[in-house]
Amino acid sequence: MKKIAVLGFGVVGSGTVEVFYKNKEALEKKAGEELDIKYILEIRDCPDERYKDKFVKDFNVILNDPEVAVVAEVIGGVKFSYGYVKSALEAGKSVVTSNKELVAKNGAELLRIAREHNVNFFFEASVGGGIPIIRPLNQCLSANEIDEIAGILNGTTNFILTKMIKEGMGFDEALKIAQELGYAERDPSADVEGHDTCRKICILASLAFGRHVYPDNIHTEGITKITLEDVRYCESMNSVIKLIGFASKRGDDVAVMTCPAVISEESQLSGVNDVFNAILVRGDAVGDVVFYGKGAGKLPTASAVVSDIIIAAKSHGTSKTMRWEDSEQDFIIPYRKLENRFYVRANTDRRTAEEIFGEVRFLSRDGAPDNETAFVTPVINEAEFEEKCGKINVLGSIRVLDY
Ligand code: HSE
Repeated sequence: MKKIAVLGFGVVGSGTVEVFYKNKEALEKKAGEELDIKYILEIRDCPDERYKDKFVKDFNVILNDPEVAVVAEVIGGVKFSYGYVKSALEAGKSVVTSNKELVAKNGAELLRIAREHNVNFFFEASVGGGIPIIRPLNQCLSANEIDEIAGILNGTTNFILTKMIKEGMGFDEALKIAQELGYAERDPSADVEGHDTCRKICILASLAFGRHVYPDNIHTEGITKITLEDVRYCESMNSVIKLIGFASKRGDDVAVMTCPAVISEESQLSGVNDVFNAILVRGDAVGDVVFYGKGAGKLPTASAVVSDIIIAAKSHGTSKTMRWEDSEQDFIIPYRKLENRFYVRANTDRRTAEEIFGEVRFLSRDGAPDNETAFVTPVINEAEFEEKCGKINVLGSIRVLDY
């Protein structure tokens, strides 16, 4: 019999307990032994009568109980979770987590501690919610050199953009619905400002390239500046706007960024709507593989957490933890050197736009005021683009990416 402790009883924590008990019998068959949740760590008072005997408020009860073999950390943030996870690993317990902030910030260290203590640190739920991506990238695609990863990695912003594109709904109203559906982070600025996507692409890049990529070193933009006008212009060129995290190998170095992007309707990523996420992985042997599914929400995320619990329970006493090394960030290409085409909406005329940006492609939309011009630039680097934008009144600009 293996005992499990669940740290946190919010959306993901309660989902984890629900999925575990709903499928307990089948899970035990897969694990090859009996399993049970012995503790639920929650600071609030008795949030659920059904499991009242399992609730504890003191993490040390879990830490000091030798019966607990697997700890599932689903609190989020790093304030409490970092200390809890580290001490659980040091005490010889395997840890599974949905916490992308923790993995993106401390992954290299926690993986090392897990290896040193012959236990596992799994985090399938940290990227893509219910989509299997961490283990496939680490195992099934391990024969490949990974050249490129590009994904829609945040359910909340994809839900908001879908509402804007398909229903013409405003940003605030769409965000409110996403929050009510339990997709958004406690502080939704992590979603809409792109930090959640950034953390996830950093985790995937670290795994794919074997060196820790820290979010603080990655250029990150969210979707708060996207307007319905931009949506309409992009529609006129058969394209949609998506928040993309990408990591791209360029020689020995890597380009990593999070930004809204104009994506052609022909791209596999363009039809990914609502809370769905999709991750395109390009390997040198396999070519393109796309992973698709629900990227947020109680049960999809719990699906990944509970699966990690089963694998951790099955492999107890051995370390099957993946690995990447801590690193100087010298292999990350400074973003101002990266080259792209850009969509631009500006208060200017066509002649000035051409004088500044060269051969551009003009766009149109119904109801545009006379002094508004929208166009797509030729390929240009970020520094040069910024310098040119200083010469006109730019109302909005978005990178045009080819995936
Ligand atoms: N807030 C996140 C999202 C939750 O919307 O994708 C899943 O990581």
